[in-house]
Formats: sequence, C-alpha cells, structure tokens
Amino acid sequence: MMLYHAGAFLAVTLSSMVCVSGRRITSITSIDGSSLSSQEVLGVQYQSPLRPVRSPSATMSLLQQLFNGTDLNSTSNSREECTSTYRSTERGVLGKGRQGTVKRVLKTANKLEYALKSPNSKEDVNDLIAEAKIMQAAAGCEGVMQVRDLKPCYKRRYVPGMYVTDRMEGDLQAWLTSTKGSVKEGWTVQDGLAQRRRCKPDFEKEMLSALDCLHGKGFIHGDLKLDNVLYNELGEDGCPTGLRLADFGLSAAIGTELKKYPKECMSAATHLPDCVFEGQPCNLPDVEVPDVEAPLSDDVFVVDPLIDMCSYKVMRSQLFQEWTPLDAKYENKGSCGKMAYGRGTEFRFP
Ligand SMILES: Nc1ncnc2c1ncn2[C@@H]1O[C@H](COP(=O)(O)OP(=O)(O)O)[C@@H](O)[C@H]1O
Ligand SMILES: [Mg+2]
Repeated sequence: MMLYHAGAFLAVTLSSMVCVSGRRITSITSIDGSSLSSQEVLGVQYQSPLRPVRSPSATMSLLQQLFNGTDLNSTSNSREECTSTYRSTERGVLGKGRQGTVKRVLKTANKLEYALKSPNSKEDVNDLIAEAKIMQAAAGCEGVMQVRDLKPCYKRRYVPGMYVTDRMEGDLQAWLTSTKGSVKEGWTVQDGLAQRRRCKPDFEKEMLSALDCLHGKGFIHGDLKLDNVLYNELGEDGCPTGLRLADFGLSAAIGTELKKYPKECMSAATHLPDCVFEGQPCNLPDVEVPDVEAPLSDDVFVVDPLIDMCSYKVMRSQLFQEWTPLDAKYENKGSCGKMAYGRGTEFRFP
C-alpha cells in the first residue's frame, strides 16, 4: 500500500506553500453583478477569501519526514469494506472547513460520542494523514488534540485519511461570539470582556503549556487562531477549560524551510506574522537558521515556534483586548509585523 500519488512528488526538494482554498471555482461575481473569471481576478484559480494552504509537494515532503521512509504501510489508502464501529448522530456536522468535514458520531462499542474528520476530496487525503501523524507525534501533550482511532470504520468503509478524535464542546471563536455584546432594542448589551478577562489566567496557563509541549515535540501549529482551539467544557464561571489545539493543516516541522505564502493571502490570514508572506522581511527575534551552504533566499521562511507565538498574541488581543508584551522568554526585541484586523496593529516581542 502506498500513500496517494506518493511517486509523483519525489523529486521535490524544497517544500512550497500556496494560497488557495479547497474547491476551485470558475467565476466570481463582482459587486456590480458582472461575472469575472477567477483567472481574471488573480491569474490563478483561487477562491475567495484566499487562505494559505500547504501545497501537495510540501505535504509529500512532510509525510516523508513524518514516516521517515519506514512505516508508510501503516496507512491504508484502500476503501475496504468493514463492519461499522461508528454511526451517525442526529446533530451531525460539527464543522466543515476547506479540507475536511468533522462529524459527531457514536461509537457503538461504548455509546460515547466522538468527532470523525473525513477528507472533502481525494486531494485532501494526504493532508489529513499528515495531520493525524503530527497529533500522534505530540502524544503526551495534554493540550493537543489526540487521535483516538486512525482507521475508523464508518458507513461500512475505511476511508483513507479519515480519523477520530474526542468530541469537544466547542471552539474559542464560538465562545468569543457568545460572550460578545449585541444590540437589542437600540441598546448595546454589555460586552462580556470583563467576564472573559476572568478566564485569562487559566487560558494562558493551558495555552502556553500546550504550545510549549507541541514545540518540544518539534512542530509548530502554523494556523493558530480561535476556531482551531477547542475546549472540553465551560466551567461554572463560564470559562472554557480543557483547551486542545486542533486542525494541523498548516503544521510543519521546526527548522524546515518553506517557501513563503503568496502575498495575496496576507489580508485574509491576519493571524499569521507578515514574514511568512512573499515580499515581507523577517524581524522575529533569534530565529534559528539551519546550517545551509547558501544564504536563506528572500522567498523562504524558517519554521519557528515564534510564528505560533505571534498568532497567540493575536488570539489574546481578540479575547482580552490585551496588547502587553508576552513574557521574558522571548526577551529579544523583534516584531511579528502588522497583524490582526486589517493588519492594523504591530505586534512586538518585549
Ligand atoms: N473534535 C471536535 N469536537 C468538536 N468540534 C470540532 C472538533 N473538531 C473540529 N470541530 C469543529 O469543526 C471546525 C472545523 O474543524 P477543523 O479541524 O478546524 O477543520 P478545518 O481544517 O476544516 O478548519 C472547528 O473549528 C470546530 O468548530
Ligand atoms: Mg480549522
């Protein structure tokens, strides 16, 4: 058994990153109602809003690294028949994103609920395999989502790339929205900022230990934002606890070099520091540049934990409207560049 299309990308040496979203489109309707082909918009087939994605070649390099040439066979790509161990539930879909659909399922053996992620298309299979493999590499990190079943049988089939995790209560984006003020009968109802701030100490503790642990295992999350952090429950104080990092679709091994994302996706991905985009220099403090003969070219960035730390600063600003420096661990002055809403705020390390 082989990974999908494994042979096609063996010649690639430097992983490239691209900026497209899952399904291709053939036309976009502009504000005045006229139809523009997507090529006219950007010269390439992109779907709006443009979000960074890992290119197939980058995924293949990552998989080769993750499997280290040894147990590629442990991943099946067949759609063999099997006896279902999970079944659908009524409130089915937990989330649907560009690469996968997450469904609420019931495990027949123990009648407990789980979350089952399946690829949206064949092109997403390798990404989901990589995702699951990275979560396995971070086994033992309490704050990282764990794979419970790497080869689930669902609807009497094994589906390549499909995997099962714990079913979580919600994500932080939904929590932020639910605690935000709203306008009712002409009055603005109090924003839940004060309440959210009471949750800050535990949030920081859980998030920093999750990130430290993941980084200690040699990976960055790479796409850290509120909807990719899930929580187990809301405590009596209304604070989310049992935080877990999820969605490893842009995760990468620390120290590897990746081609920068096209600048077209800079305005949509405001949770990422500017230097991962083409044309932006890196001013992060002390990024470890691996030993390479040639100097690092302008269109490449080095995968470093500071990328997650920049994203983490944005998360804190969204939840707590908090702009103060992070902590003494990152004591060298450096900048993530302009991030957050409209890329309007500069985030610096102290
Ligand atoms: N284990 C889970 N339990 C509950 N909800 C989940 C779980 N995994 C994902 N979700 C929901 O589905 C959404 C999309 O999942 P995610 O893994 O981030 O996929 P994508 O790569 O498509 O963004 C999440 O933002 C979250 O709301
Ligand atoms: Mg996501």
